[in-house]
Amino acid sequence: MNTLSHRLSGLSRLVLTTLLVSGAALFGGDQAKDLPKFDGNFQKYWTDACARCHGANGNGRDNNGKPLPDAGFDFTDSRKANKKKDSDWVKVTLVGKDKMPAFKDKMSEADVQKMITDIVRKFAAKH
Ligand code: HEC
Repeated sequence: MNTLSHRLSGLSRLVLTTLLVSGAALFGGDQAKDLPKFDGNFQKYWTDACARCHGANGNGRDNNGKPLPDAGFDFTDSRKANKKKDSDWVKVTLVGKDKMPAFKDKMSEADVQKMITDIVRKFAAKH
């Protein structure tokens, strides 16, 4: 009986590991896929649509501190961020740039402007 339950738990561990590994591989694919439409909540939209590439804290790292492959810019680096104009950031967010997807079909220009001043700029202020 003991041997059987041991074998079973070994098997389920194997299945679980396989699922986790293939799940990670899937997620590592196209980061711009399935971007949701803006729903009026800026903080939530950062989490849902931007954090997958830029990180929850805007530093381009995941929750374990590991650099994200498609981060592009560290918004917590105030020295660098201060050299950037809001208007340029609004433009990049609306029309996209290289791996940065365009959000003009997801958000209005006024919403993007508010996203930059209320969320993106605050990452630098916090650190
Ligand atoms: C698929 C990954 C991805 C997603 C999702 C994404 N970004 Fe980006 N973003 C990038 C990359 C990569 C760059 C760097 C582009 C370049 O300069 O080549 C970038 C650049 C930017 C820049 C310009 C930074 C600079 O270089 O000065 C801003 C602003 C920005 N993103 C805001 C956002 C906002 C706001 C969202 C969510 C609404 C978002 N991004 C979602 C990948 C992403």
